[in-house]
Amino acid sequence: MDQRPGTAGLRKKVAVFSQAHYLEMFTQAVFTTLNLRSGARLVIGGDGRYFNAQAIQRLMAVAVANGVREIIVGQHGLLSTPAASHLIRTRQAHAGFILTASHNPGGPAGDFGLKFNTPTGGQAPEQVTNEVFRVSQQLQGYSVATLPHIDLARIGRIEFEGVRVEVVDPVADYSRLMESLFDFDRIAAWLASGRRVCFDAMHGVTGPYARQILVDRLGAAPESLLHAESLPDFGGLHPDPNPIDAAELVARSRADNPPDLLAASDGDGDRNMILGPRLFLSPCDSVALMLANITRIPGYQGGIPGVARSMPTSRALDVVAASQGLPCYETPTGWRFFCNLLEAGRIGLCGEESFGTSSAHCREKDGLWAVLFWLNLLAVDGRSLPGMLSAHWAIFGRHHYQRWDYDVADASRASDLMAALRNLLPALRGTNPAGGVIETADDFHYRDPVDGSESAHQGVRLIFSNGARIVYRLSGTGTSGATLRVYLEQHVTTAEAIARSTVEAVTPLGRLAAQIARIGHHTGLAEPTGMI
Ligand code: G1P
Ligand code: ZN
Repeated sequence: MDQRPGTAGLRKKVAVFSQAHYLEMFTQAVFTTLNLRSGARLVIGGDGRYFNAQAIQRLMAVAVANGVREIIVGQHGLLSTPAASHLIRTRQAHAGFILTASHNPGGPAGDFGLKFNTPTGGQAPEQVTNEVFRVSQQLQGYSVATLPHIDLARIGRIEFEGVRVEVVDPVADYSRLMESLFDFDRIAAWLASGRRVCFDAMHGVTGPYARQILVDRLGAAPESLLHAESLPDFGGLHPDPNPIDAAELVARSRADNPPDLLAASDGDGDRNMILGPRLFLSPCDSVALMLANITRIPGYQGGIPGVARSMPTSRALDVVAASQGLPCYETPTGWRFFCNLLEAGRIGLCGEESFGTSSAHCREKDGLWAVLFWLNLLAVDGRSLPGMLSAHWAIFGRHHYQRWDYDVADASRASDLMAALRNLLPALRGTNPAGGVIETADDFHYRDPVDGSESAHQGVRLIFSNGARIVYRLSGTGTSGATLRVYLEQHVTTAEAIARSTVEAVTPLGRLAAQIARIGHHTGLAEPTGMI
């Protein structure tokens, strides 16, 4: 069992996960660590990828042997990650298991994953996941009960030997939650007036959610949905809502007479990408505009206590927060860092540059929530998305933003690069390599304001006096080699600089970033392998 320490679950190829005892051993390690009281209640659901249904039966058998007496599971084994988080909270479950490898490919040759959430609905904290890892190294075996086959297709309750399994409609509770936050009548009227939305479910779990909410409830035309059937192999696609993997949606946004809002979500429904007519909305701008308009949305009318963004996410959010006198927390990359802040009531909106946005309505990022937020906002505002964005930039300035990724086959070369860069920091401070003085050159260190826990080495930051910023960090989610992520940001305020293209605005910064860190020298890569 080689769960990577510090991650909220286990993610492996299907071939590895489906081996005899593999899933059982991991599940046992979780139960041994959590030490739930006998009679505990669990929520289980997944993104529908290959091996989902089988894995759920096997997981339930270990759960029951470990004293679980009540299981709430989505019909057909489906639950989007945010819907699972919501169910864990409202049903006061003692834990939740989400079967997903997020935006990674599915099918027999694809990936599978299993993660567990705490009773808050949030991802387990690092101390707990590290303990699961430790336990998994020492486990000699696992407990397993013999269960009758549980028909996940039929909604209803099944009882046997003191155990109750409730198969629930995966969408119903989530849909009610959305209706409590957003003005559905207003969105429906906006759509009825001829406005159009296009949502790409990428054959992931959000298909049935989008059909019930956008089409059946809000009246969007059925052809507004793309790839809306949940498929075990995601139709062979890579269910990741970014401009490259959702190229078809991007093409639609650029075609004649494009819809007013276009959006996509990933395999398990927690990520979102928002597009407008001929417009890509950076996730960093999206969360900033959400904050600027937050009280126009019914669920947030009373305002929110504060906001947070992951460190590499652009500072567009900070500028809006400052204008409203709200605290803006800067956390390390990874959703779980937001969970403590949400749970403590310190924040009511948070986002990551990697297409993750959410609020305090659950403890995960939430793709469809972001889409509904934008639909509601467009409906109350009346302007187009490009119109709203330009008006926002005219007030707050624009944070041109891009991420350059370098896939390095030999992981040790990438760590050498980071080590060399860290050594360089004292010498960089106060220098003026291009149009701005480096005022901050550090390795981001986070102290959680709620529980005081410390997270060191979360990425190197170079913050310039002229509104520029370069961040370097190594990806923590890859399965082979290493990915160096370089995040480039340039804040500008003049009309001319705002109108400039992002590529034009950040390319000099990207070149400088490569030169400072000697990326070519360390990795042999003259150019990034990907730009988002
Ligand atoms: C990536 C994203 C990060 C996100 C994570 C899980 O991690 O950058 O924001 O929280 O996936 O979805 P990374 O590969 O950069 O460590
Ligand atoms: Zn995901």
